[in-house]
Amino acid sequence: MPQPTVPDMLASVATFAIEGVGSRQVVVEADVRRGLPVFTIVGLPDAAVREARERVRAALLNSSLEFPLQRLTANLAPADVRKAGPSFDLALAAAVLAASGQVPRETLGSYALCGELSLGGALRPIRGALAMAFGARAAGFERLIVPVENGGEAALVGGLEVLGVPDLARMVAVLRGEWRPEAPAPQAPFAAPAADDLGDVRGQTDAKRALELAAAGGHNLLMIGPPGAGKTMLARRLPGILPDPSFDEAVEITRVHSVAGLCDGGLSSRRPFRAPHHTISTSGLVGGGSTPRPGEISLAHRGVLFLDELAEFSRSALEALRQPLESGCVEVSRGQRAISFPAAAIMIGACNPCPCARPRNECVCNEVDHARYARRLSGPLLDRIDLVCELDATAPLDLVEAGTAAETSATVRARVTAARARQRERLAGTGALSNSEMDARSTRRHERREGGARSRLIEGHARRALTGRGHDRVLRLARTVADLAGRDSIRPEDVEEALGFRLGAEAVAA
Ligand SMILES: Nc1ncnc2c1ncn2[C@@H]1O[C@H](COP(=O)(O)OP(=O)(O)OP(=O)(O)O)[C@@H](O)[C@H]1O
Ligand SMILES: [Mg+2]
Repeated sequence: MPQPTVPDMLASVATFAIEGVGSRQVVVEADVRRGLPVFTIVGLPDAAVREARERVRAALLNSSLEFPLQRLTANLAPADVRKAGPSFDLALAAAVLAASGQVPRETLGSYALCGELSLGGALRPIRGALAMAFGARAAGFERLIVPVENGGEAALVGGLEVLGVPDLARMVAVLRGEWRPEAPAPQAPFAAPAADDLGDVRGQTDAKRALELAAAGGHNLLMIGPPGAGKTMLARRLPGILPDPSFDEAVEITRVHSVAGLCDGGLSSRRPFRAPHHTISTSGLVGGGSTPRPGEISLAHRGVLFLDELAEFSRSALEALRQPLESGCVEVSRGQRAISFPAAAIMIGACNPCPCARPRNECVCNEVDHARYARRLSGPLLDRIDLVCELDATAPLDLVEAGTAAETSATVRARVTAARARQRERLAGTGALSNSEMDARSTRRHERREGGARSRLIEGHARRALTGRGHDRVLRLARTVADLAGRDSIRPEDVEEALGFRLGAEAVAA
């Protein structure tokens, strides 16, 4: 009696596992052979992947497909990659279908498949479809099958046919060559809803200037002032004066949000604004966990991270911010692999001058309170903040007088956009997009100081005991001042203004 040959019962299907904001290829092999009907999954699956057995079984039966009543083994390779989450369901189902002869195995090689199954056979949207699409293209696949909701997001990656499929039955039809879904269009950028306008803020000219500089050069900003001075109000208006993200930036933003499950199906064409509460954990702020997830600083990538009541954040959370603020990315190591999340955001902090938050002459804090407060805002963190700005309580007159028209966000954004364009042109090829991202070498190369600017800096250095980093930061900020004014070279007064905003940092640390 002829025995069926082993390869007839074996099928393999490609899928992708999320790693950081990228993905790694995983091959799902299914083996069907005679024996007691059991279904085993091996290859470092987590609980959600083990549960896929039940979903795959029910989804197949409820889609009028056959679930083989034989001994069924699925292997996820490579075995040393942790497989987490439900996005392997679809590839598992396809492998079972191919191994039991219900879909042709020959065509499967050009496909990668990712998706979660419901018991009824419908496909549920997954996290990280964009990262998986990038992975599929890099690995040379021609087609990627994803849940229909993730189609627009995955289609942002060109050079890959993305098939958005609503359920298992339709996936089978695609693999059998009986049906083709419409190509998903990458979602059109949606118009940003009118953000709060800068024109609403009365007075606070220094703080507004600092906000404009922060937006123009991507500098971090700390606002210190009494309650009700308008710190929160100002910070919320920063996204409104930033230029729209370029397509590449929008893809970077979408990639992080997609991995975190915050993507609404298409391109994130707006800069993120993240304002975590001060009780947030360290890993919530900078990312991490056993299957590393992006933290708030990464979710704010290419946008704004607002830390209101900065001094109330835990010390360890603030310390953990130091490295990402310097390098623009978060490095997490898992086992032997280092995973990196992007984290190039403008950090804007707000706090009261002291714990009791009363005006200086009514302050009831003792020296210990003050010292504890100052320690929270440690020197190394402050060293990474280019702009420190003290706000006074606004005069009542400023609040009521409506005659003096304050500049609107649109006016300021036009200046910021022009200054950013100058920087992009000058920094082309260096990898930096704004002055704050310049490394020490570019900082020196692009300073082009006018006579007097140098001596002004040396003088400021002596007066304020700048650290080496502080020195470079003053130069970068002065560069932004000049860019906003549309000048190629840095003048003494630009250095002076930059030093002024730096002075605040030294005053707080003192
Ligand atoms: N400069 C200003 N111009 C117009 N309105 C202002 C200004 N400052 C404060 N306000 C009004 O006061 C409200 C409170 O301001 P905001 O929340 O920004 O204060 P804050 O400085 O963040 O205070 P706290 O330290 O208590 O957090 C604002 O919503 C706004 O209505
Ligand atoms: Mg506030």
